[in-house]
Amino acid sequence: MTTPTHLFDVLVIGSGAAGMTLALQLTRDYRIAILSKDEPNEGSTYYAQGGVAAVLDEYDSMESHIQDTLIAGAGLCHQEIVKFTVKQSPQIINWLVEKGVNFDKEPGATGNNQFHLTKEGGHSHRRVIHAADATGKEIALTLYDALNENSNISFFKQFVAVDLVNAHNIGHKGNECLGAYVLNLETGKVELFRANYVIIATGGASKVYLYTSNPDTASGDGIAMAWRAGCRVANLEFNQFHPTCLYHPEAKSFLISEALRGEGAKLVLPDRKEFMHRFDARAELAPRDIVARAIDHEMKRLGCDCVYLDISHKPSKFIKDHFPNIYARCFELGIDITTTPIPIVPAAHYTCGGILTDINGKTDVPNLYAIGESSFTGLHGANRMASNSLLECMVFASAAAKHIMMQPKVKSHMPKVPMWDDSQVTNSIEDITISHNWDELRRFMWDYVGIVRTDKRLQRARRRVQLLQQEVSEYYSNYRISSDLLELRNLITVADLIIQSAIRRKESRGLHFTLDHPNLLEGAKDTVLIPPNFG
Ligand code: FAD
Ligand code: SIN
Repeated sequence: MTTPTHLFDVLVIGSGAAGMTLALQLTRDYRIAILSKDEPNEGSTYYAQGGVAAVLDEYDSMESHIQDTLIAGAGLCHQEIVKFTVKQSPQIINWLVEKGVNFDKEPGATGNNQFHLTKEGGHSHRRVIHAADATGKEIALTLYDALNENSNISFFKQFVAVDLVNAHNIGHKGNECLGAYVLNLETGKVELFRANYVIIATGGASKVYLYTSNPDTASGDGIAMAWRAGCRVANLEFNQFHPTCLYHPEAKSFLISEALRGEGAKLVLPDRKEFMHRFDARAELAPRDIVARAIDHEMKRLGCDCVYLDISHKPSKFIKDHFPNIYARCFELGIDITTTPIPIVPAAHYTCGGILTDINGKTDVPNLYAIGESSFTGLHGANRMASNSLLECMVFASAAAKHIMMQPKVKSHMPKVPMWDDSQVTNSIEDITISHNWDELRRFMWDYVGIVRTDKRLQRARRRVQLLQQEVSEYYSNYRISSDLLELRNLITVADLIIQSAIRRKESRGLHFTLDHPNLLEGAKDTVLIPPNFG
């Protein structure tokens, strides 16, 4: 049987908010392939809770949203990108509403625009539009329905992109991206997807840590593929830890939305004493880096496994109306949040750095774009403000779609691309190596490259990741690929990039906190890593 080759105008790798928005914003004369490595909606977008930050209230202002973002970003946000993003926020929300996203309205509201807005850390106004506590699900399902109505868009689920195809990798002049090799999980074969434009929309890399709020898809595949293809990456040392993930042996990765704190929930110690006011005047609504570090500090000081988030002082109906899913999930696990504080711990949540792009989502490689959590646009600086991520996904997906539509649709030069060759490899008989290395990587990243870092811990992590890199690269050359092996290979690459970036930053800023360099240096600088095959 010959392996199929697919030919499209645009290949979108990833079907979260970023990938689906881009596909829907291109005109219908583009033939588009969109890939998901799991089920179509299995990605961070589907699990987003709090909402989307946007300036929608007459008492709010663009200036205020811009300032809040800059403050949370601890001096590293790119101002022009922050302005660009915030200014698009009302249009993006209108577009979602037109597509059918059903955001919560103010009680009793009849008009179109009277949405209920909630508050989260770092925001000085109520500006987070939401669908109860399951905003991502509402957006993901609505956009997925819209995709299915477009006959120019073909969806490929359970197709895992392995690597990008670049002209120079196959012996041609130039470095333009020509498509990608993709593993079809059903057949186990690698297929070739050729396209004039390729978009990485693969989400973040929080799965590099042992404890994370993210689904399993967040293994940094796009970041690793882009690095191998010659793209620069930036600010990967800024890994955001969400302060409040449920601490329960039966609950994997369940987030307790920051919107609870926005609506008055308090963080308390095991003896029920509040503590956040000791760390920051904004207390529970300080930016995430500060809250996560305060919790980490108190847990280490007291030697306790978790602290608690208490919203039980609010009326039971209010809690059930605003947070129906969190209420239900906790109740299933025996925690009635209307009467009992919720046990919580911080967990890896968001990758602030990523593939370096310009304002149109363009990367260093011609014809290759990166959008959403896999990208680095400069919006988040050293710490992303709550609910700015979904906004970024959709703003830059729109910008990239517009940019693609201004380029020639058909390329004059289409070099021949070889098919994937696995004739020299055999089936693995050593799968234990993959699972062992996987656990080891995530554990030392948690212990040595977590909320609080030191030079020694980072060097230790560096030595370990180099060993794993050698082992897995040998394994990759000798055995037939599987999705676990691909993810492990990508996680190791991204872990190495995170560690290298963290070692270079000799200061504590935003999410990067190190005991050896506790102060802020003058003159904020991005950490940009350049791949060996750059340019
Ligand atoms: P994702 O939604 O993660 O989608 C990635 C896609 O890429 C998936 O389809 C996946 O299958 C595909 N993919 C990955 N690798 C490959 C590969 N190799 N081949 C093929 N396909 C691949 N942000 C907010 O702004 N507001 C919130 O309220 C909010 N709440 C959150 C709650 C949780 C629990 C989590 C985890 C995150 C939350 N965030 C929130 C962050 C936000 O949801 C994400 O940053 C955002 O959804 C990322 O969207 P994306 O399109 O970039 O990637
Ligand atoms: C949350 O609901 O707390 C997550 C919001 C975000 O990550 O932006």
